[in-house]
Amino acid sequence: MEKVKNPFKYGSAVEGEYYFPLPAFSKNVRAYLDNRINVVLYGPRRFGKTSFLLDLMKEQSREGKACLLIDIFNITSHKDFLRQVLRAIKSKQNFGHKFKDALEKLAKLKLIPAMDVDPSTGQPSFSIQTDFSSEKDIRELIQDAFMAIGKLDDSVLVIIDEFQKVSQIEDGGWLEGTIRQQMQELKNTVFLFSGSRKSIIYDMLNNQSGPFYKTCQAVDIPILGDDFTDWVMDRFNTIGISCDKRAITELRKRVHNTPNYIQQVCFHLIAENPEIKHVNLESIEQILHKIVEQNAYAFETLLNSLTTLQGRVLRLCANEPTAIYSQELIQRYEIKSGPALATSIKSLKSKGILESSSSKGQVIFDDPLFQIWLQKECS
Ligand SMILES: Nc1ncnc2c1ncn2[C@@H]1O[C@H](COP(=O)(O)OP(=O)(O)O)[C@@H](O)[C@H]1O
Ligand SMILES: [Mg+2]
Repeated sequence: MEKVKNPFKYGSAVEGEYYFPLPAFSKNVRAYLDNRINVVLYGPRRFGKTSFLLDLMKEQSREGKACLLIDIFNITSHKDFLRQVLRAIKSKQNFGHKFKDALEKLAKLKLIPAMDVDPSTGQPSFSIQTDFSSEKDIRELIQDAFMAIGKLDDSVLVIIDEFQKVSQIEDGGWLEGTIRQQMQELKNTVFLFSGSRKSIIYDMLNNQSGPFYKTCQAVDIPILGDDFTDWVMDRFNTIGISCDKRAITELRKRVHNTPNYIQQVCFHLIAENPEIKHVNLESIEQILHKIVEQNAYAFETLLNSLTTLQGRVLRLCANEPTAIYSQELIQRYEIKSGPALATSIKSLKSKGILESSSSKGQVIFDDPLFQIWLQKECS
């Protein structure tokens, strides 16, 4: 039998038919950018920030803007940051003439070796030199690279994905300050930042003495609602599978509307049941539990790295996420006191395991699968 193409994808940014477009949200964000208002896009991990940014970038490029997407998720130093900036520039080699001047400038700065022209395409090409010398050089090169970016075009969009990383580099705020300075100096350039750590992003924007105080418009990535359920059903339909709407609605609820997990469950549902013709709640639950179980080892390791108190607090939060400070629950989960609970919650947030919620007495798990696993552990 011929293998059918799985209509679902997960784990990294999606494009094309795997992407559910967000036209209204995209229009909002573009309105800010068109008016040269810098934007910070906040969304939990796995909610589709990078996918959205790629889609927006395509649109803006079509309109003639020079766009760069700098991904700094894995950076630990200025050198890493510079490397990612150069990588973003390099990925635009096929822009040809637009980037040529900037590339030449970078070549002059010895950031990249002299440029070649690719004989088959006629496009300029280059490779990135990575053996930079002193920290002072690297700082200068970062500034030069931004200046070159500003010269790319009349209108430039710089997107920095996983922006909170810049505040985690211990450099006395140099990188933050430098980006802030570039935001002011590059008159034709607008910045779009994305971040997945709410508390860090919030601090960056609202700390009066920080460089980003009131410099950006904050927007939240929208939660994909009923339209997304319909889209998921349509995706099943493309390979002749029907499904109970209720099953998808319930799945969305179970994984706190995390699109990555919705697609992951649907992907495995098909991969493991090639003969399936109809999807119901039972088949969804079964796959969801299997995926949770596959993560059990990682969850156990995580739990073991925490204190006993933190473990109890997590159990409480997993089972009663909406009223964690109730006296009755504090006793039931053997937590010493309200203040002890508060301290634990704080450190679990700083570890990125829990996130604040907008409502009081409520917490959100960074990873909804971890929450499901903890619930099962307790029962
Ligand atoms: N708009 C969307 N339409 C369909 N699937 C999406 C969408 N946004 C996110 N996803 C799902 O979530 C996964 C993670 O998306 P990604 O853009 O990497 O999220 P983030 O950058 O917020 O961590 C994708 O692989 C896809 O399965
Ligand atoms: Mg991302």
